[in-house]
Amino acid sequence: MATRGSARPNGLAQTKICQFKLVLLGDMAVGKSSLVLRFVKGQFDEFQETTIGAAFLAQSVCLDDTTVKFEIWDTAGQERYHSLAPMYYRGAQAAIVVFDITKPETFERAKAWVKELQRQASPNIVIALAGNKSDLAEKRMVEYEEAQTYAEDTGLLFMETSAKTAMNVNELFLAIGKHSHERKLHLTQFKSASQTC
Ligand code: GTP
Ligand code: MG
Repeated sequence: MATRGSARPNGLAQTKICQFKLVLLGDMAVGKSSLVLRFVKGQFDEFQETTIGAAFLAQSVCLDDTTVKFEIWDTAGQERYHSLAPMYYRGAQAAIVVFDITKPETFERAKAWVKELQRQASPNIVIALAGNKSDLAEKRMVEYEEAQTYAEDTGLLFMETSAKTAMNVNELFLAIGKHSHERKLHLTQFKSASQTC
């Protein structure tokens, strides 16, 4: 956490910058890269190519007086890349675990990712569950309530998203930024009352 500009003669509020490492996990083709592409570039590609290894992108959002900079690791969902995942979630402050609402097996896979994160990632990691492809309502196989109940019971943020229509994509990243920021403040206050972020 850095603070930009100490003295502000013009009286404007200081802008704090918080940097968070965020990782996206989930089965192949659930739309991880598409969510990142939508969030970072505002675009969608019907023919998005499968990710090899992982991809890195960065994007910032503003929360009140704080700029939250996400360093995003978009991992590959193919099983053969599973062993690389710890490299990306290690030290991450936030994770988005994605499933496809039209494919129940991807919801089961998401639950396995959540378990792995809870066992092996940082104990303070903020985990969000994204039920993606909500635009394909007629093909829905995972009910909203089912995922919502699971998320509540497990202590996760939950949103249904559509990288295609942009529904809830910015909202999801904003909610994660807010939670990560609050958690960081809380932890810092716990460690030392004199630090701010
Ligand atoms: P891997 O990199 O193989 O792990 O896949 P991924 O999870 O990154 O999925 P990707 O973003 O490559 O998307 C897979 C396919 O789903 C692509 O054809 C996308 O265009 C499509 N897709 C992604 N998100 C959505 C969505 O919200 N709605 C619809 N209808 N299609 C989507
Ligand atoms: Mg991908």
